[in-house]
Amino acid sequence: MPSTSDDLRVAPSILSADFARLAEEIADIAPAVPMVHVDVMDGHYVPNLTIGPPVVKWIRKATDLFIDAHLMIEDPDTYASQFVAAGADSVTFHPETSADAGALIDALHEQGAQVGLAVKPKQPLDLVIDHLASIDMLLVMTVEPGFGGQAFMPEMVPKIAAARQWRQDHDASFRIEVDGGIGPDTVGATVMAGADTFVAGSAVFDQPDRQRAIKEILAAAEAR
Ligand code: DX5
Ligand code: ZN
Repeated sequence: MPSTSDDLRVAPSILSADFARLAEEIADIAPAVPMVHVDVMDGHYVPNLTIGPPVVKWIRKATDLFIDAHLMIEDPDTYASQFVAAGADSVTFHPETSADAGALIDALHEQGAQVGLAVKPKQPLDLVIDHLASIDMLLVMTVEPGFGGQAFMPEMVPKIAAARQWRQDHDASFRIEVDGGIGPDTVGATVMAGADTFVAGSAVFDQPDRQRAIKEILAAAEAR
C-alpha cells in the first residue's frame, strides 16, 4: 500500500499576501496551484480580523482557482452560506462554533459547496468523528488559528494519522488538509501521516518567487 496520496495539492493562504494587490497576488500563484485558501477571521473566535463575503466576491471575479474558505468565526450558522453565495467552492468551519454542525454541513452541500471541518491543536479527532462520513475535507490545524508565520506543531502528526486510519476503516473519502507552519521542511511528516492538501501562507507569499516556493513544497511532499 502506498504511504501517500498521488494527488497532493498546495493551497496558498492569502493571509500572507498583499491585500491591496490581491488580484495580482492570486494571479502570481495561479499557474502553480489548483486552489487558493482564504482565511476568514472575525476578531472573536480568533484575535485577528481579516475579510468577509464582499472580498470573496471580488476574488471570485479575479480567478478561476478553487476557493477554499476557512472560517475562523463564531457564527458560521449565519455567515457560511454567504461565503458560498459570494463564490467560495469549499467552506471549512470549526464544529464547536455551530449550533448544529450536521445541519450546516447539509445546508452548505445543498447550496452546492464542498464542506470541511477543522480541528484545533488542543481538540481531539473525536470532536468531528460523527461527521467524517459526510464531509469533503478534514482540516487538521498544525498551529493555533489566528495568525500566519507560526511554527509547525509536530505533535499534530498522530492526529493526521488517526484521521487517515478512520477513513480507511470506514471507507470514507474526505481529503486531509493541514494548515499552519507548512513549508518544505515540515510538509514531509504530514504527507507520511496522510495529509494531501497543504495550506501555506508565509512559505509562499513571503518568498520573492512564489511559484518556485510552491514547487519546492510539492517536491518535498512528493519525495515522501
Ligand atoms: C492560521 C490560518 C492559516 C495561515 C497559515 O490561522 O488558518 O491558514 O495563513 O499561515 P502559515 O502558512 O504562515 O503558517
Ligand atoms: Zn487557514
